[in-house]
Amino acid sequence: MSNKPNLTLKDIKVEIEGREILKGVNIEIKGGEIHAIMGPNGTGKSTLASALMGHPKYEITSGEAHLNGEDLLEMEVDERARAGLFLAMQYPSEISGVTNSDFLRSAVNAKRGEGNEISLMKFIREMDSKMDVLEMDQKFATRYLNEGFSGGEKKRNEILQMMLLKPGIAILDEIDSGLDIDALKVVAEGVNSMRNDEFGCLIITHYQRLLNYIKPDFVHVFMQGRIVKSGGPELAERLEAEGYDWVKEELGIEDETVGKG
Ligand SMILES: Nc1ncnc2c1ncn2[C@@H]1O[C@H](COP(=O)(O)OP(=O)(O)OP(=O)(O)O)[C@@H](O)[C@H]1O
Ligand SMILES: [Mg+2]
Repeated sequence: MSNKPNLTLKDIKVEIEGREILKGVNIEIKGGEIHAIMGPNGTGKSTLASALMGHPKYEITSGEAHLNGEDLLEMEVDERARAGLFLAMQYPSEISGVTNSDFLRSAVNAKRGEGNEISLMKFIREMDSKMDVLEMDQKFATRYLNEGFSGGEKKRNEILQMMLLKPGIAILDEIDSGLDIDALKVVAEGVNSMRNDEFGCLIITHYQRLLNYIKPDFVHVFMQGRIVKSGGPELAERLEAEGYDWVKEELGIEDETVGKG
């Protein structure tokens, strides 16, 4: 019997510097499920990702978040990662002086905990095999973390990190932005290689194209700091074909963004 991971959000509200950006987000992501969030710019999608990872600037003012039944909001940032939550960021940061492989190994060991560190040999073997899947050159192991990486290389590196950390729940923020078609397929392959009951995923994307390669079970539309509509893969196809106006009309939304004024 496997224990399926589960991330449940109830009416999550978030403020940044006193301005309310998220206005009540409800979602449940279970192991084995892929959810996609699509939505216009500036509607709060990345804010949701950052707030869940515990970014100090994003204050969760009300609502509940549970990861595998435990109160996520009570956990420190490192505890969230150890409990199996992972975020691939829209804009990954560069760290000079720290090699990619040292960073990745530290992250893996931090998750495994003291006394249970992975052996160097085993780590390198695993990293090599994942880099093969992602068609990454070995030189990326010894380069400084993200420093001078092209946009596409950074995205591949985020997925490499995910594949090594094996999170229960992953949030992938615009993992497809800036990827050429071949890279898109490779990144999708990386995500698909993780698909099983012990892995649930929330993909934030602007383009249905990614969802041709990673078939979502659920598609949610994000506007005004919350999910305003949910459906299956057909919803993403309609958004790609027709844009967001029909959703706004249907729901009587004039300005879909948040945080103005
Ligand atoms: N750290 C921050 N400081 C100040 N304002 C912020 C911060 N993060 C987000 N915001 C504001 O919150 C609003 C929502 O931003 P967010 O990045 O969540 O949008 P998004 O839906 O991810 O957009 P995009 O599709 O362009 O990535 C924006 O008005 C943004 O300027
Ligand atoms: Mg964003």
